[in-house]
Amino acid sequence: MSVMDNEGSYYQLAPNLTICRIVNGMWQVAGGHGYIDHKLAIEDMIRYNDAGFTSWDLADIYGPAEDFIGQLRHKLLALKGKEEELNKIQALTKWVPQPGIITRSMVNESIQRSLHRMDVNSLDLLQFHWWDYNNPYYIDALKYLSDLRDNGIIKHLGLTNFDTEHMQIMTDSDIRFVSNQVQYSIIDRRSEVKMIPFCLKYNISLLAYGSICGGLMSERYLGKTQSPSTTELNTLSLRKYKQMIDAWGGWGLFQELLSTLNRIAKKYNVSIANVATRYILDKPAVAGVIIGVRLGIADHINSNAQVFNFSLDKTDYSDIDAVCTKSNNLFETIGDCGDEYR
Ligand SMILES: NC(=O)c1ccc[n+]([C@@H]2O[C@H](COP(=O)([O-])OP(=O)(O)OC[C@H]3O[C@@H](n4cnc5c(N)ncnc54)[C@H](OP(=O)(O)O)[C@@H]3O)[C@@H](O)[C@H]2O)c1
Repeated sequence: MSVMDNEGSYYQLAPNLTICRIVNGMWQVAGGHGYIDHKLAIEDMIRYNDAGFTSWDLADIYGPAEDFIGQLRHKLLALKGKEEELNKIQALTKWVPQPGIITRSMVNESIQRSLHRMDVNSLDLLQFHWWDYNNPYYIDALKYLSDLRDNGIIKHLGLTNFDTEHMQIMTDSDIRFVSNQVQYSIIDRRSEVKMIPFCLKYNISLLAYGSICGGLMSERYLGKTQSPSTTELNTLSLRKYKQMIDAWGGWGLFQELLSTLNRIAKKYNVSIANVATRYILDKPAVAGVIIGVRLGIADHINSNAQVFNFSLDKTDYSDIDAVCTKSNNLFETIGDCGDEYR
């Protein structure tokens, strides 16, 4: 069954915003993930879109990502000749300002820039990131963004890397947001401590990233007794999540997890990455898993489509969880979601 024919592939994140539950992540075009050929990248975007992977996660700071959305729209219109085709794309961008005084005109200018680059009249979802809670201007920023949302310039407001305490401060300040984007994987379950109960109470969705650890949760690393060297880890993403694995319990325990995932993957004739993605998609409050795409370099369209064609059973969950009970508690050592950035 194709992604498009499978109802379970899509999720209503908010009124008028239904996304594919596997969102294509565009950090990988921002540098540090290999050379991106712009022409090949747009061709790949068309392929993802045509396969039903219609949702994109990007940011103002992800290099050419917002421009790529604009170019995808142009190309799609030229190919299909119908404006309706463009309504099938969901482009979930972010605004990541430097901490400091935030004025209304700064917010308006930044959002106008994103609209222009993406060639849209309104943003489907604007996810707000803030580096430093000691700097209080994030509340001003979110108020100005809320006004843009109320005026229809932004359809929905979301957050990224907010911790539960500051999500609570936002809701207490009557700031409405539909989602928070956080790192969430089999090894990084910090969101389960406070954030997911909070999300369920306030009807907020999570968009998960890092769920396959930059590709480390795959057959490519199965059975490798030696921890990979920094040169072997040739993307920023692989290096980021290798550090997380070290904090979680180390390479030896990770190999034990990979072999458990591999056994489960074989049972359903899918891949390790599929099992790791399915596991997170089935968690409460999770709307989607963002999987990074190295456009024009590597293609996982057919493999990732398999995520929607199987389900895990109780034994699978308990086998995975049994390995994780041997790990360190990342909530205690790092803190809540997003604390690694602050
Ligand atoms: N809000 C934030 O602070 C934040 C932080 C990080 C990421 N993100 C978002 O999340 C997205 C995901 O990025 P990530 O860094 O977390 O990476 P990721 O999704 O964990 O890993 C992406 C890599 O996994 C590999 N892969 C994909 N599908 C696979 C499959 N079916 N089988 C085997 N390998 C597969 C690919 O590696 P190859 O290309 O080598 O084949 C791909 O480049 C980013 O693009 C961004 O949109 C957000």
